[in-house]
Amino acid sequence: EHCKGVNGLPKVVLRESRGSSAEVYLYGGQVTSWKNDHGEELLFVSSKAIFKLPKAIRGGIPICFPQFSNLGSLEQHGFARNRVWNIDNDPASLPTNSTSKAYVDLILKPSDEDLKIWPHSFEFRLRVALGPGGDLMLTSRIRNTDAKPFSFTFAYHTYFSVSDISEVRVEGLETLDYLDNLQNKGRFTEQGDAITFESEVDKIYLSTPTKIAILDHEKKRTFVIRKDGLPDAVVWNPWDKKAKAMADFGDDEYKHMLCVEPASIEKPITLKPGEEWKGRQELSAVPSSYCSGQ
Ligand code: BG6
Repeated sequence: EHCKGVNGLPKVVLRESRGSSAEVYLYGGQVTSWKNDHGEELLFVSSKAIFKLPKAIRGGIPICFPQFSNLGSLEQHGFARNRVWNIDNDPASLPTNSTSKAYVDLILKPSDEDLKIWPHSFEFRLRVALGPGGDLMLTSRIRNTDAKPFSFTFAYHTYFSVSDISEVRVEGLETLDYLDNLQNKGRFTEQGDAITFESEVDKIYLSTPTKIAILDHEKKRTFVIRKDGLPDAVVWNPWDKKAKAMADFGDDEYKHMLCVEPASIEKPITLKPGEEWKGRQELSAVPSSYCSGQ
């Protein structure tokens, strides 16, 4: 279903037969909504989000490509999140999920202007699909269509909606090494049990397991993130001071969001001419009682 979103921007709405749904803006190729079969929103989008160039939409699942953060010469998080993507009518060779017709294929190719700031020609194909149980799957395929190799870093900058950040814990990252953006990107090792939140956090966990869980105690909900081709995971919450400094983010909204971002950052991905890379994230939201004992 194709319709108009905020500021008349085109978006695609996916609906799955049991009632779950998702919305994808062509602006940024960005998922801005994912609802379960009770109609509850599972992703965070700021009430102050600006749906207008050159600003990326604050929330949902922005795509960081070809550069994560400010680790290179490009604008923060690269340009894919503030370009207008197209519907891909020729998603070549990606098998369709036989149990669900709720998916959309998007494509981004660099414009002449993009080639001036990042001189590498590529085809970025993104499939967003809703599974029969309401799971949300994002598959990115990036092909080098240039005559020389290129390297990039990448993240699915996923904003999860949580009831109260102080009641949330993240499992699957304990004892791992991480780079801390708040401490000069130094390398540290996580101690102890699950990760909890009581102040600003901006860490890149390295070589993480393929499964990470976010437990929302108050909502009695667990998000399970499964990922493939994306060894790292960023965990970000701006907390109160940074929240106030961001024009497109409400002062208190940090209490109700958490970014956990499947990524490939420490080791950039290099593609030779003609080569393709694939990176997937699969999200599910399950009642917590379901997960007890895990
Ligand atoms: C996170 C970064 O992924 O994104 C943070 O680790 C950054 O350093 C945050 O502040 C938000 O970035 P932006 O560009 O969307 O404000």
